[in-house]
Amino acid sequence: MAAAPDRLKDTGRATPRRTVFGEAAEAYEDGRPGYAEELVAQVLEYAALGDRTALEVGAGTGKATGLFAARGVPVVCVEPDARMAEVLRRTTDAYPHVQVEVGDFEAWSPSRHRFGLLYAATSWHWVDPARRWDLAHSALGPGGTLALFWNPVAAIDPELFAALRDIDRRHGVEEPPHDALASRYGEEAGTVDGQVGPGWPVDEIRRDGRFTDLRTVRYRRNLRYDTARYLAFLASVSAYRVLPQHDLAQLLVETAELLDSRGGTIDMLGINDLVLARTV
Ligand SMILES: C[S@@+](CC[C@H](N)C(=O)[O-])C[C@H]1O[C@@H](n2cnc3c(N)ncnc32)[C@H](O)[C@@H]1O
Repeated sequence: MAAAPDRLKDTGRATPRRTVFGEAAEAYEDGRPGYAEELVAQVLEYAALGDRTALEVGAGTGKATGLFAARGVPVVCVEPDARMAEVLRRTTDAYPHVQVEVGDFEAWSPSRHRFGLLYAATSWHWVDPARRWDLAHSALGPGGTLALFWNPVAAIDPELFAALRDIDRRHGVEEPPHDALASRYGEEAGTVDGQVGPGWPVDEIRRDGRFTDLRTVRYRRNLRYDTARYLAFLASVSAYRVLPQHDLAQLLVETAELLDSRGGTIDMLGINDLVLARTV
């Protein structure tokens, strides 16, 4: 939700952006921030699931799955990339109530099952825009909960931010998802720079007309990454993964030199933006 979907579209390069995560599955697991416990508590309070099963779309390596599973929620995960799914099986090994199914959400069928909760963590923008709301309705029964959330990060120091963006631009990364300083994030979920109006995906949910009780929440916390973790983070971001290998390698070297010359850490604002809605 922090990044509009048009910024995340495939760029027409040989590797479609939505399929690049698996080649860096371990970097993804090491480098990506997770999600706030308060967010998970809020989703579960809103959903009042009881013993019903949740459906997770695009579970990746399980950064959100583990948080729901640890609270006893049975989860069916749909994840298209077999390499991400392999890490997901490992990170959720302690939870027999997590089931992993490998495939695109568009090709997956809930058959007759209706879930009490469908959640997607930093993945809903990858699901086919022409079909995603119909697919959500098919998977949820009436009164089912849709929970969509994202976890953008933003550098706090303007000078460091400018130096990082300069490296990005020299290697052809124009608009990475973390292309905003922390000071540009206000209190309202989904907005940067005091943007007026709800933005995506709230606008699409309203237009769909089959959801009610729409709510949005923004959670903020401070994150400090060391150089190695920041490099793993960059190596897991699709805007970087689609670079020619040599450019990515050089960009990572220059980024490491920059961070190491400034104490070997970067302080960031970690945002979690949550959108909740219920099927009518
Ligand atoms: C940015 S990752 C998010 C992973 C995880 N949910 C997290 O929060 O760390 C996006 C995930 O969506 C998956 N994905 C991409 N297209 C998808 C689709 N059509 N259906 C389901 N998942 C998809 C990718 O394979 C990837 O694991």
